[in-house]
Amino acid sequence: MHDKKDAAAAASLPTTMTAWRQLAYGGPETVVSARIDVPTPGRDEVLLRTRAVSLNSADVHLMRGEPRMVRLAFGLRRPKRPVLGMDVAGTVVALGEGVADWAVGDEVVGELPGGGLAEYVAAPVKRIVRRPEDLSAETAATLPLAGGTAWQALDRAHVGTGDRVLVIGASGGVGTFAVALAALRGAEVDALTGARSRSLVEGLGATRAFDYRAVGPGSAQLGRGGYDAVIDVVGAARLSALRALVREGGAAVLVGSGTEGLFDPLPRLAAASVRSIGSKRPLRPLAAVADARILSELLDLAASGALKPAIERTWPLAEAGAALAHVDAGHTLGKVVVTA
Ligand SMILES: NC(=O)c1ccc[n+]([C@@H]2O[C@H](COP(=O)([O-])OP(=O)(O)OC[C@H]3O[C@@H](n4cnc5c(N)ncnc54)[C@H](OP(=O)(O)O)[C@@H]3O)[C@@H](O)[C@H]2O)c1
Repeated sequence: MHDKKDAAAAASLPTTMTAWRQLAYGGPETVVSARIDVPTPGRDEVLLRTRAVSLNSADVHLMRGEPRMVRLAFGLRRPKRPVLGMDVAGTVVALGEGVADWAVGDEVVGELPGGGLAEYVAAPVKRIVRRPEDLSAETAATLPLAGGTAWQALDRAHVGTGDRVLVIGASGGVGTFAVALAALRGAEVDALTGARSRSLVEGLGATRAFDYRAVGPGSAQLGRGGYDAVIDVVGAARLSALRALVREGGAAVLVGSGTEGLFDPLPRLAAASVRSIGSKRPLRPLAAVADARILSELLDLAASGALKPAIERTWPLAEAGAALAHVDAGHTLGKVVVTA
C-alpha cells in the first residue's frame, strides 16, 4: 500500500514531459524532441525522474530497425516503443500497483525496455537496483547493458586469474568494460583497437594494444592458439580465424555480428554453433540478458573505485539527438551519457 508521502508526491507530478520520440525507423533525424504524456507506472512498475541515460549501439539498432530481424519484436512498420534509452539512472517519484519494496525518493539504476530519453520513464521493479550513494547517476547509467554484456561474455569463456584474453573491438562500450573486467579478474589482456584509443584501453588494463587497421585476427603478431578466451565485440572476423587464436580448452565468444543481411545475425551464429559441436575450441554466441545481480556487482565495483567506466562525453537531454547521432556514427570511445 502506498503511504501518504508517496501519494502526495505522485499528485504533484506534471502531466506532460519532454521526450525524444521516434515515429518511424531511420537515422538520428527521425528522433525529435516532443511534449508527450508522463507515463503512468503499471503493476510492478515505478515511475522514475530520469537523471542520466547511457546510449548503446543497441539504441541505434532499434532506431534504424536494423538488422531487420529486430522489427519482428520491436514493431514491423514503426517502433512499438517510440522513446529510446535503456540504461537509466533515476529517482523513484511514483509507485505502481503491487510495489512494496521501493519508496519515493529512492535512487535506482537499471536496464529498462526503453523510454529513457525523457524526463520520466516507467521502470519494471525487476529491472532496477539501488544506486550506491557515492556513485554518480552518470557513472551508474554506463553500467547496465554494456557492463552486463561484457561480464556475461567473460563468464561464457570462464575467464579467470592468469588467463590470456584477446578483446577484439576494445574501445566502445562493451569493449572497454570487457578489457577492464578481464583485468580485474586477473587475466592478461590484449586488445584490438583503433590507434587513437590505444592509451584508453591500456589505462583500463590491457597489456598490449594493437591497431585493428594494421593487425587482424589472422596476423602473426597475435600468434596461433595462444588465448584462453577471445571476446569478439565486432563480429567481422572469419570464424576460422577466431578459432585459430584460441588454445585447446579455451573459447571464442561472439558478442557483435553483422547487421546488413536480412536474417543477420542468425547465419553467423548458426554456423558458429554447428562448428562448435564437439570442438575443443568452441565459438560461443552470446545473447546477453538484463541481470540485476550482475548490475549490483558492477555498481559495487564502480562505487569502490576498482572499475572506472570510460565516459567519452555527456550531453544534456535537450541535445540528446546529437548524442544519438554520435553513437550512430560508430566511433564512440567508451560510453556516451545524456543527463536529464
Ligand atoms: N550479443 C549480445 O548480447 C550483445 C549485447 C550488447 C551489444 N552487442 C553488440 O556489441 C557490439 C558493440 O556494442 P557497443 O554498444 O559497445 O558499441 P559501440 O560503443 O558503438 O562501439 C564503437 C567502437 O567500436 C570500434 N570498432 C568499430 N569497428 C571496429 C573494428 N573493425 N575493430 C575494432 N574496433 C572497432 C570503434 O572504434 P573506431 O572508432 O576506432 O573505429 C568504436 O570505438 C555491437 O555490435 C552490438 O550490437 C551484442
